[in-house]
Amino acid sequence: MDKTTTLLLFFSMFTFLTTSFSKNLCNQDDKTTLLKIKKALNNPYHLASWDPQTDCCSWYCLECGDATVNHRVTALTIFSGQISGQIPPEVGDLSYLQTLVFRKLTNLTGQIPRTITKLKYLRSLRLSWTNLTGPVPGFLSELKNLQFIDLSFNDLSGSVPSSLSLLPNLLSLDLSRNKLTGSIPESFGSFPAKVPDLYLSHNQLSGYIPKTLGNLDFNRIDFSRNKLGGDASMLFGANKTTWYIDLSRNMLQFDLSRVVIPKTLGILDLNHNGITGNIPVQWTEAPLQFFNVSYNRLCGHIPTGGTLQEFDSYSYFHNKCLCGAPLDSCK
Ligand SMILES: *[C@@H]1O[C@H](CO)[C@@H](O)[C@H](O)[C@H]1NC(C)=O
Ligand SMILES: *[C@@H]1O[C@H](CO)[C@@H](O)[C@H](O)[C@H]1NC(C)=O
Ligand SMILES: *[C@@H]1O[C@H](CO)[C@@H](O)[C@H](O)[C@H]1NC(C)=O
Ligand SMILES: *[C@@H]1O[C@H](CO)[C@@H](O)[C@H](O)[C@H]1NC(C)=O
Repeated sequence: MDKTTTLLLFFSMFTFLTTSFSKNLCNQDDKTTLLKIKKALNNPYHLASWDPQTDCCSWYCLECGDATVNHRVTALTIFSGQISGQIPPEVGDLSYLQTLVFRKLTNLTGQIPRTITKLKYLRSLRLSWTNLTGPVPGFLSELKNLQFIDLSFNDLSGSVPSSLSLLPNLLSLDLSRNKLTGSIPESFGSFPAKVPDLYLSHNQLSGYIPKTLGNLDFNRIDFSRNKLGGDASMLFGANKTTWYIDLSRNMLQFDLSRVVIPKTLGILDLNHNGITGNIPVQWTEAPLQFFNVSYNRLCGHIPTGGTLQEFDSYSYFHNKCLCGAPLDSCK
């Protein structure tokens, strides 16, 4: 054999070895589990690529990690398919999952299975735009690596579990658009590390917002479209760096006159509440991009300056006696 042939032979063997190796990246336990999941979901067309003859790391709707985790399945993302049934409890056996997503699946029903507490590496849990029922499970607090929880747009009922405030790495909690009742847990006034973004809108939450939430410097809070009453002034404050506050369509009743807003506040929606007092001059100091205080019981002169005159009358209308631009001038 001459040198070129040897090289060619070597090269083709190398190619053969690497491709056949890459065909077997899939961990056998993961493959078995995935096939059980496919079966539990009635072998949907959406998972047609899940063919037992092929490497599961090449299947759609999932990702395998690199060699440091032995190519175990790290993400399962089932999105917008014709899928009927419940979340298969077997997902809890994909032990290396960091991301679990079931999203936009109208016919996905049933409860969130307890088996997901076995997913010790789970960082992102997104079960949204499905028809899941039952509670927001308190057992989610066992998943210490969770950073993102999104259970929005479901039919979840019961109360917000106070144990979620124990999650040491939580960055965002979205429970909006469900049928949650009860009040916001007192425990949400302290989180172990970072203060997460809180989205609890479009539920039936009632009672007072716990005073303790005033100790936190939130970036985003959306409590809109609930039945929350009483005071919300503690959510504001000069020393905070909050960007987004939506408390619209509740039953809040407090005096705005002495509320100092963060100098970082960009979005503020307070429409449809029972808020009294006047809009403080200090509010002209914030970089407000969206502002709505309509349908309250505010009175007095709308301060001139900042961005407050950039909003039209619909941001201010239906109050007790607010006046000045963009509303009619004060008498
Ligand atoms: C949901 O189920 C209904 C009734 O079985 C069916 O007609 C519909 O196509 C399904 N939708 C999806 C998105 O799978
Ligand atoms: C839940 O199911 C109902 C029909 O049973 C459907 O109208 C609705 O769109 C579904 N919700 C979601 C978020 O898919
Ligand atoms: C805001 O911070 C300043 C300076 O750090 C401090 O003096 C003041 O007491 C704080 N105000 C409030 C309401 O926490
Ligand atoms: C403010 O809220 C009211 C009441 O929901 C609404 O009619 C108006 O369009 C809103 N304004 C803006 C700018 O969104």
